[in-house]
Amino acid sequence: MIEVIRTIGDAGRRMADFRRKALSIGLVPTMGALHDGHLSLIGRARADNDRVVVSIFVNPTQYDDPEDLERYPRTLAADLEKAEAAGADLVIHPAPEDIYHDGYRFRVTESAFSRELEGAHRKGHFDGVLTVVLKLLNIVRADRAYFGEKDWQQLLLVRDMAAAFFVATEIVACPIVREADGLAMSSRNVHLAPEERVLAPEFHRILQTGASTEDMHRQLVEAGFGVDYVAKRGDRILGAVRLGKVRLIDNVQH
Ligand code: PAF
Repeated sequence: MIEVIRTIGDAGRRMADFRRKALSIGLVPTMGALHDGHLSLIGRARADNDRVVVSIFVNPTQYDDPEDLERYPRTLAADLEKAEAAGADLVIHPAPEDIYHDGYRFRVTESAFSRELEGAHRKGHFDGVLTVVLKLLNIVRADRAYFGEKDWQQLLLVRDMAAAFFVATEIVACPIVREADGLAMSSRNVHLAPEERVLAPEFHRILQTGASTEDMHRQLVEAGFGVDYVAKRGDRILGAVRLGKVRLIDNVQH
């Protein structure tokens, strides 16, 4: 059975032990409910490093909606098996009181890009994400940390934060993993009702049409999605839609 470390103190000691032995460390931060997207990050970390550490922590501060936080699937036993099979060496699974021993008095705030897109629809979301990621980077002090391109805005903000605070860990971007029908893998997909699951791949299909963002927005509404945004940023088209109670995000290169 894979080793599970539950306190920040023990995690710090274990990581120091790896560093003393000159073993390189790859960190894959997750909130659990592991799917093939996460497993691809673990696989990449396995290929690049001597030791692979997965954190599983459902981070309360990145949720503005308590119902959404409550609904996040907690599947620790299955996650441990999947992480081990994908090549992880250990899992860090800390308690919220340990991560937020300061009562979230100190937090990281980005004052520009984090206010757009996801940030405009989820108040305080990126403060919570950036704060927990900085804490995890400081606890593990990995050589590399792996983030999926599905959360494109998160990836850019984490990368910029790491540069802003001179974090030594390299931030590695990994491609989106999709179901055979194009739906981006996400822990939220399990909540889609059967008819919503049938409709969900239309989201990715429409984002790829090369139409204007206004036209894609219209097509998505006509297909039956609630649309939070469709927007171009750099070489990406990013979107967020709602199907019933499930919110999906995705992005494609254009
Ligand atoms: O992408 C996620 O799963 C989370 O936002 C992260 C990076 C693990 C921080 O809680």
